[in-house]
Amino acid sequence: MNRLKIGVLASGRGSNFQSIIDAVDSGHLKVTLSVLITDNPGAFVIERARKHGIEHLVMQPGQYASRDEYFRSVAGMLKDRQVGLVVLAGFMRIVGRPLIEAFPWRVMNIHPALLPSFPGLHGQRQALDYGVKISGCTVHFVDEGMDTGPVIIQSAVPVLDGDDEEALSARILALEHKIYPEAIKLFSEGKVEVSGRKVVIRDAVAGEGSLTQPPVAG
Ligand code: GRF
Repeated sequence: MNRLKIGVLASGRGSNFQSIIDAVDSGHLKVTLSVLITDNPGAFVIERARKHGIEHLVMQPGQYASRDEYFRSVAGMLKDRQVGLVVLAGFMRIVGRPLIEAFPWRVMNIHPALLPSFPGLHGQRQALDYGVKISGCTVHFVDEGMDTGPVIIQSAVPVLDGDDEEALSARILALEHKIYPEAIKLFSEGKVEVSGRKVVIRDAVAGEGSLTQPPVAG
């Protein structure tokens, strides 16, 4: 069986990338990590790719005529490698339309808050400042907005009295490392379907109960 090929976009330390690598290495996730693309030549995530023999490309927007040109080029690199799912793992940019259009409902992101609360930067700090008692993380498909696409999986953690940003972030990150590989696994098994702005997770064998089939009359 042909394994789903995945391209990862990341800008920083890459702990989520590592959790995906680990899930592949353990055999839990049956996909191929084809390429890492980073916009940051100094990112530690590059070391992780090197260590695991995953191709990495440094592509910086400043080297392209426009933002659209940049994302067209990123999409081209991913298409060249027959990538079927693009995974954003701490990629610190809003994805441009050419990439989204090249991979319709095939770009995922993870956000460190329970969307639609606290989108954008510092989701953990926003949650603390607001005073919520529960926060968490969200895996969602990427559209052109800022963390606005259909939600695939969410997981919650308590916000404890005395938490600072670091403590809450660590609690959330531990969950991120579980749910991101899980969302990718569901996608790779064909169980993730976008229906309007909702994502339906199908646990059935392929074809059975498909939401694309018309309802049976009577
Ligand atoms: C994570 O908190 C993730 O939710 C957010 O960016 C951070 C990336 O961390 N999108 P890492 O580089 O995967 O360690």
